[in-house]
Amino acid sequence: MKYLITGGSGLIGSEITKLILEKNEDVFWLTSSKKNKTGVKSFSWNINKNQLDENCFQDVDVIINLAGAGIADKKWTADRKKELIDSRIKSTQLLFETLKRRQNKPKSIICASAIGIYKNQNNHLLNEESEIGTDFLADLTNQWEIEVNKFETIGIRVVKIRTGIVLSKDGGYLKSVAAPVKYGLAAALGNGKMITSWIHITDMANLFLFASKNEKMRGVYNGVAPNPVTNYEITKQIAKALNRPFFLPNIPAFLLKIAFGEMAAVILMSQNISSKKIEKVDFKFEFEDIKDALENIYK
Ligand SMILES: NC(=O)c1ccc[n+]([C@@H]2O[C@H](COP(=O)([O-])OP(=O)(O)OC[C@H]3O[C@@H](n4cnc5c(N)ncnc54)[C@H](OP(=O)(O)O)[C@@H]3O)[C@@H](O)[C@H]2O)c1
Repeated sequence: MKYLITGGSGLIGSEITKLILEKNEDVFWLTSSKKNKTGVKSFSWNINKNQLDENCFQDVDVIINLAGAGIADKKWTADRKKELIDSRIKSTQLLFETLKRRQNKPKSIICASAIGIYKNQNNHLLNEESEIGTDFLADLTNQWEIEVNKFETIGIRVVKIRTGIVLSKDGGYLKSVAAPVKYGLAAALGNGKMITSWIHITDMANLFLFASKNEKMRGVYNGVAPNPVTNYEITKQIAKALNRPFFLPNIPAFLLKIAFGEMAAVILMSQNISSKKIEKVDFKFEFEDIKDALENIYK
């Protein structure tokens, strides 16, 4: 198998790359970065200039499409929102338009999506058929899925992984949440009852590779572990795994809204997401329980 990853230098892409190289398979990156010191063979693209080095497609079987500016990295100003959209939509369009006119195409594209696409329904368990939301994040994710669906029209199998909260000590949710916990400042957010549908980084990377090889998979799959937990529970378990106290009162939602503006929606999001569909196609999770996942991450 030969893989091409967009956004390969990010949290999920780096883990996928590591697993591919461990299996002695081939991987290229299509990157927006000028410098890449990892040794992974990289080709460049410039989404805003509609430029892409087509050599990146040489003998590639699968594209893993992860590129996108970090959702929770900066406040959502109008410019930032545009960047969040363009980095996902324009990049996917550029891939599509380039592949459409090429003779040799990869067989599959496995694209990141997000559980933020769903309309929150009072913590009811949501599956891949559940209603899509109308807020900024849901709309962005939905637009991204619509763009990637177009690859089916040119004979490329499409799988979209509606990714949950990825747990890794190298970045993402735990990097921001665990920082205060490390200093003994663990506190649940809002009312602490929001459901966090999480997934361990190893399972996340394995799921992208599983979908790459399983040609029967098509369409959307939730990328979450089987046992979501409340915000209170995950914060308590992070403190436990780090051997730190957990006694502070919750941080009220209104303070988070003042600090983060519209982006507080990501922090206060409550999504109870089902993993049944991915289990039905025989994907095996290494980490089903939050305690085991965090112990492994902080061992
Ligand atoms: N981590 C999570 O918990 C989570 C949850 C739900 C959905 N997702 C989605 O899954 C995808 C991968 O997640 P991740 O956590 O690995 O993200 P990440 O660590 O932020 O990495 C994303 C990568 O996208 C590329 N990128 C960044 N800004 C860009 C821009 N303006 N234009 C084009 N490319 C840009 C960069 O790669 P290059 O420098 O190589 O171009 C970057 O390393 C993202 O689209 C994210 O929204 C993640």
